[in-house]
Amino acid sequence: MKIGVIGLGFVGLTFASIMANKGFDVNGVDTDNRKIHIIKSGRAPFYEPELDTILKKAIGKKFTLSGKIEDIVKNCNLIFVTVGTPMMTNGSIDLRMILNVCEKIGEALLKTKNIPTIIIKSTVIPGTTVNQIKKTLEKKSSKNTGKGFELITNPEFLREGKAIEDTLHPHIIVIGSDDNKKINQLTKFYKKFYGSKIPIILTNNTTAEMIKYANNSFLATKISFINNIANLCQSLPGTNVDDVASAIGIDPRIGKQFLNAGPGFGGSCLPKDLQALIKFSKNRGEESILLKAVHQTNNYQVKKILKLIDKYLGSLKNKKITILGLSFKEESDDVRESVSIKLIENLIKKHAIIRVHDPKAINNTKNIFGSKINYFNKTDDALNGSQCVILMTPWKEYTKLKNSNFQKMKNKIIIDTKRILKFKKNNLTYIGFGIGKEIS
Ligand code: UGA
Repeated sequence: MKIGVIGLGFVGLTFASIMANKGFDVNGVDTDNRKIHIIKSGRAPFYEPELDTILKKAIGKKFTLSGKIEDIVKNCNLIFVTVGTPMMTNGSIDLRMILNVCEKIGEALLKTKNIPTIIIKSTVIPGTTVNQIKKTLEKKSSKNTGKGFELITNPEFLREGKAIEDTLHPHIIVIGSDDNKKINQLTKFYKKFYGSKIPIILTNNTTAEMIKYANNSFLATKISFINNIANLCQSLPGTNVDDVASAIGIDPRIGKQFLNAGPGFGGSCLPKDLQALIKFSKNRGEESILLKAVHQTNNYQVKKILKLIDKYLGSLKNKKITILGLSFKEESDDVRESVSIKLIENLIKKHAIIRVHDPKAINNTKNIFGSKINYFNKTDDALNGSQCVILMTPWKEYTKLKNSNFQKMKNKIIIDTKRILKFKKNNLTYIGFGIGKEIS
């Protein structure tokens, strides 16, 4: 079985590396030459725990980089399309990259007798596979689906920071196709790889696409829900959102995951997918009242931080503010749609002097703000002389901070959006998101 992977981001590179380590011949391609250069040297072009190790074992051996979609179409049985579908300013997704890839696959299909199965893993709005991808492939190849190639929608559910664990142990596999024959081939592949215990949902292309959007939107809804409750707890002396979340999470109808309140969700998926679904609903003549509220609640969280800073510091002109954590979540260097970045943008407008620290995401942040803000390798240096610190990303190293680490601050105001500081807060002004002030 030969596997082709088109698009070597989090999903594609992790998938390709794992499959190659399991003994499959994998051929990968990506248009970004800088990325290819780094991958060839056995390193991932982004931070993902353990990915370097498995990539190094496979690259140049079972995992090759052909550089040409044509080679993949000619030689591979299964072709996974894992290119990005980024957000446009109007909230819709940009399909240019995936349609461009499909044009190239179609052109290559025209020149080969190989009948590959093309598997769309990229997140695409419901209807895209049938209405756009299929049509592009058929037009460019002059071949019909089911004859010259097979076409399947197979959304991915892995999380950044846990990409390997999630690829090795997915909780579900969704296979969508309007033709059952195609489904059987991929189902067999996955069953062989993962064993028979994994739930495999067989459906049509459009429902498979909808499952992905429903999944991410539901996760976003859970987060906004608990953030809403957290904000209420914070106004209620003696209450703590974590106790509320643990208790309601025991109810199997609710479940304990994704109830960790904080500054709001970020990243390249949840905000993008939520907005795309809202926009898509509108285009279909349906108003997504709930999803709009989820989005609004998420935006409110950064405003809440700004309001708190304003309450304690007043005018921010030339005031030193420290931000601990820049990536959208821990164990990642990704700053896309990170709430920390939105916060910094707002603080810059208010002429604050911004001091930032993050174990992995400094370089990506420098690409956005350059010399407009100050970067530190050590938390103590970032805190020195600061008038307020906001803990944004719950990196493990921040959980180890002690009262003494904050003593060199000018004003010891700590806004802990994830409630990770567990030490006694005497002589500090501590505001934990979702924690109502102690009852005296
Ligand atoms: C998300 C989904 O969880 C994956 O299943 C999906 O495959 C992926 O999007 C995608 O569509 O590609 P990811 O963006 O990597 O994965 O990150 P999450 O772990 O979902 O976290 C998203 C954001 O929500 C982060 O900012 C995180 O800090 C926040 N979050 C998460 C909370 O604020 N509270 C929680 O309880 C959980």
